Amino acid sequence: MELQEAILNRRSIRKFTDYRVSDDEIKEILEAARSAPSWANTQVWEFIIVRDKNIIEKIVDTYSEKNPARKCTLAASAVIVACARTGISGCKEGKNVTKYNEWFMFDLGLAVQNLCLKAHEMGLGTVIAGLLDHKKCEEILSIPEGYEAVVTIPLGKPAVTGKTGPPRKELKDFTHLNRFGNRFTE
Ligand SMILES: Cc1cc2nc3c(=O)[nH]c(=O)nc-3n(C[C@H](O)[C@H](O)[C@H](O)COP(=O)(O)O)c2cc1C
Repeated sequence: MELQEAILNRRSIRKFTDYRVSDDEIKEILEAARSAPSWANTQVWEFIIVRDKNIIEKIVDTYSEKNPARKCTLAASAVIVACARTGISGCKEGKNVTKYNEWFMFDLGLAVQNLCLKAHEMGLGTVIAGLLDHKKCEEILSIPEGYEAVVTIPLGKPAVTGKTGPPRKELKDFTHLNRFGNRFTE
């Protein structure tokens, strides 16, 4: 699959068939995640692959009531929970070296996008879910101090293909030439 095709046609998938995603497929997807760039190559990401239906149910209980990813997470044959170690990315000797508190969110975002694009290339669907009670989710998954659970990613075969996504802003609405406010393009 062409990169451009993957970038343009990847969608958040919230309805899966009952196809069981294999461990080998998950490993292939995680290979893409681990190739992402990160602050000083610190690679602070950790991924928990949840197969146990009881644990998946408990995770969904931490989702906000109105989270549109509830149903598909319950139906997913695997849910990948993307976590990260804190105090390393963007830090030196435990102290932040830029004005930002942490870079793990940035690094994890890059890895998760790789993961979602790879899944899409393989004919699988994902949705990133971040609207949840992170503390409760961390307790359920026995995540130790110094690590954060950031998003869950239910994985499955899309029940519908060719889904169109919500609209994106036009280039002119968020690009600037030389200084903020000077249009880069009309
Ligand atoms: C950090 C992050 C958190 C998100 N959390 C949720 C979520 O909790 N539930 C959900 O259904 N979708 C969630 N999404 C998916 C977005 O709603 C979706 O990516 C966006 O509407 C664009 O649609 P598309 O992915 O189909 O292009 C999240 C996406 C990101 C990047």
